[in-house]
Parts: sequence; structure tokens; C-alpha cells
Amino acid sequence: MTLVLGVLSMAAAALAGLADYTDTDGTARTRATLHATLMVVALVVYLVSLVLRAAGPADRALPVALSIVGFLVIAAAAYVGGEVAYVFGNMVNRHAWRGAGAKWLSLELPGDLPGGEIPEATPTKAKLGINTLVLVRQGEAIFALHEQCAHAGGPLSQGAIVDGCIECPWHGSRFLLANGHMRRGPALYDQPAYEVRRSEAGWEARRSQS
Ligand code: FES
Repeated sequence: MTLVLGVLSMAAAALAGLADYTDTDGTARTRATLHATLMVVALVVYLVSLVLRAAGPADRALPVALSIVGFLVIAAAAYVGGEVAYVFGNMVNRHAWRGAGAKWLSLELPGDLPGGEIPEATPTKAKLGINTLVLVRQGEAIFALHEQCAHAGGPLSQGAIVDGCIECPWHGSRFLLANGHMRRGPALYDQPAYEVRRSEAGWEARRSQS
């Protein structure tokens, strides 16, 4: 009975996973594919074990051994699935575990910018320590958000500027340039915003404190 319940729950979890999978891209999708494959293997192993048990064999060694194999495969699948959620923040928030970091750090702009200036109204990638930001200049104001979309990691530097927002090229989420607030889904979370200022060496930035 426990095995039957387990198999039914696996089938239900697969439906939820499939819904998330259709909206998953990049490296997270590769890991999610591995997770799904392992889960299908485990499901098949459990089903075979179930069929063998249902036949009421005198020797139950094989179905029990198959259950153990299924458990080990599920453990591996859980590890990979946990990585998708807790490392990539997939379908959670890509920035859930990103530190607030109040320290000003030098911004590394692309080397080919004319005069080292941030171009007007053109999303521009820049490195801030280990993070990649997207910068948008509008007149004197420089806006900076994290480059990786909170929804599924889309590259905001390839997005369009629409109504004071940057629109993700992957699924169309919009985030206000001024503060990263989510204005349109499918993203459910705000985008980390950064303050930018001039420094002697060029530009520096830090995570917005509000
Ligand atoms: S990755 Fe889905 S909206 Fe950006």
C-alpha cells in the first residue's frame, strides 16, 4: 500500500514539475532534465517492483532489491532537484540567496564604450564583483539592476526599455528601472536594484539599501 501511495505521489509531483519545466531555461533546464530523467527511472523501477510484489512471489528478494534501487535513484534525483531550487532559485527567486552587500565596488564596463561613457537608453552589461548588472542611462540618471531576471534567469541586458521598465526577453516580465519593482509577470519577485556613482577611477555601485 505504501508503495502504491508513493507511486501515485510521484505521478502527481511529475505534473507540478512539468508545469515548472516548461518555464525553465538555461543551465537550470539542463539540471531539471536530469532530475526528471532520474525520477522517471525511479518510477519505472518502483512500478516493476510493484508488479512483482502483486504476483505474490515466494521469494521477495528481487522486488525488495528493486525498491532499494528506486530509493537510491530518488535520493540522487532529490539532490539534483534541490540544486535547481536552492542554487539556481528556479521558480523561487533567482536572487533569494544574494547578499545585500552595502559596500561600494568598482563597476567594470565593457571596454568598447566610446569615452567609457554609459550609452543613453541602451541596456549595458557591467561587472560588479561576482555579479553582473544591467545599466541604463536616461539623461543624468543611471539605473542599475541585476542582469539575471528574477523569474528564470533571462538576460535583462538583451531586453527592451518600456514605460520606465526593462522587459525580459525570455518571458516578458517587466521591472521598474528606478527600484527593480516587478511591474508585470510571470516573475513574482522584484529585481535587485543598485546605486551607481562616479568614482575617481570611473564608476562604482552598491546594492540599493531600500
Ligand atoms: S526569465 Fe522569465 S521573464 Fe525573465
